[in-house]
Amino acid sequence: MRTQVAIIGAGPAGLTLARQLALQGIESIVVEHRDRAYIENRTRAGILEQPTVTLMHELGAGTRLAVEGMDHDGFFLRFDRTTHRLNFHRLIGGHATVYAQQELVKDLVALRLEEDGPILFETKVVGIDTRADGATLRAERAGEIVTIEADFVAACDGFHGVGRAHIPDSERIEITRTYPVAWLGILARTAPATPEGMYCAHEDGLSLHSMRGPRITRQYLQVPADTDLDDWPDERIWDELTRRSESIDHPELERGEIFDRSLAPLRSVVCETMQKGRLFLLGDAAHIVPPAGAKGLNLAVSDACVLSYALGAHYKAGIREHLDSYSTTCLPRIWQAQYFSWLLTTTIHALSDDPMDLRLRLTRMQRWVESEDEQRALGEVYLGLPFPTPWAYN
Ligand code: FAD
Ligand code: DHB
Repeated sequence: MRTQVAIIGAGPAGLTLARQLALQGIESIVVEHRDRAYIENRTRAGILEQPTVTLMHELGAGTRLAVEGMDHDGFFLRFDRTTHRLNFHRLIGGHATVYAQQELVKDLVALRLEEDGPILFETKVVGIDTRADGATLRAERAGEIVTIEADFVAACDGFHGVGRAHIPDSERIEITRTYPVAWLGILARTAPATPEGMYCAHEDGLSLHSMRGPRITRQYLQVPADTDLDDWPDERIWDELTRRSESIDHPELERGEIFDRSLAPLRSVVCETMQKGRLFLLGDAAHIVPPAGAKGLNLAVSDACVLSYALGAHYKAGIREHLDSYSTTCLPRIWQAQYFSWLLTTTIHALSDDPMDLRLRLTRMQRWVESEDEQRALGEVYLGLPFPTPWAYN
């Protein structure tokens, strides 16, 4: 097989890039390790920034999103048993939209298969070879080896993929921080606690109350990093969510059937070496943000815009410089998202027993709810900084 761009991974980064390339008349092959049902049902992110929503409309992937997505103006913040509302829309316009990642994946998969070309499902890339004039992927499919020749490789293969590992350790600048906590996430059949998502910064740890619809909630609990899900029967989860979200101004949390549960570690990683020759890293393959603030999916989409634009410039106008500057174009926005996620993470989680830390966190949150300047600064990043480049080269 031969193509212009070989894309490893059919997550948000790979599927967005594939669509952007198709709309620019650039061929690609998408190779995905898992089957279609698996990627269309994987429970993960849920908050889309305004630029992500606008982009999905431009890509023709916004029809269901427009109907089923829920626009939120900001979020609620609860501390000292008191609820506050941060309304960013009022200050700067735009929205965050609640729309599950797997729904976006379904929409992009359908578009790709109907209009743009195949996705090689159940095909695992096992080898990458890059040269001055092109690249070769070796993949395993039903026990056979498939070879794909391409001009470029877009590694959109997530944190544990083969793309980043292709860049030798000695050449890779990678900056990492791990936190001693994880998020235990559930989906449950209950009404949302508040009309928009709510972070509860209890002194024993965070609880987060989000939603996927009027009768489905997505809720998270801060737990120790070495937590075993088996130690958390439903009763214990509800007791802890209820305790951490106690307030003087709202009724107690509604309980219901829990039908999905998972653990996610908290870490920050930026691989600043996002390219080597004809290989480019996008999304989680290049960086991980801790989940507070919901930036991961949105960053994946932002990287896809930058690479799509650079490949457009290369194929349409013979301009190479945007490809050469891919990493340096992406990195400032990635670091802004890392900073925001770090700020939120260290403010709303209980990460130490030190009473000084607790007082300082409460003081910071008090400032957030009192100062419009602080809210504007938070809101600009929460609702989404502009993407570094347009996605299409004209
Ligand atoms: P992925 O979605 O991981 O896709 C990579 C794909 O590559 C996968 O389909 C994988 O099967 C495939 N692959 C891997 N290796 C190979 C191989 N060798 N060959 C072929 N295919 C391969 N982000 C937000 O923006 N908002 C949120 O609210 C949010 N909440 C989250 C909650 C949780 C619990 C978790 C875990 C994450 C959350 N995130 C959130 C992060 C978000 O889900 C990720 O940042 C996002 O999925 C990154 O997209 P991606 O396309 O880069 O990678
Ligand atoms: C959700 C995820 C987040 O990381 C967050 O900060 C807020 C909401 C969610 O899954 O709905």
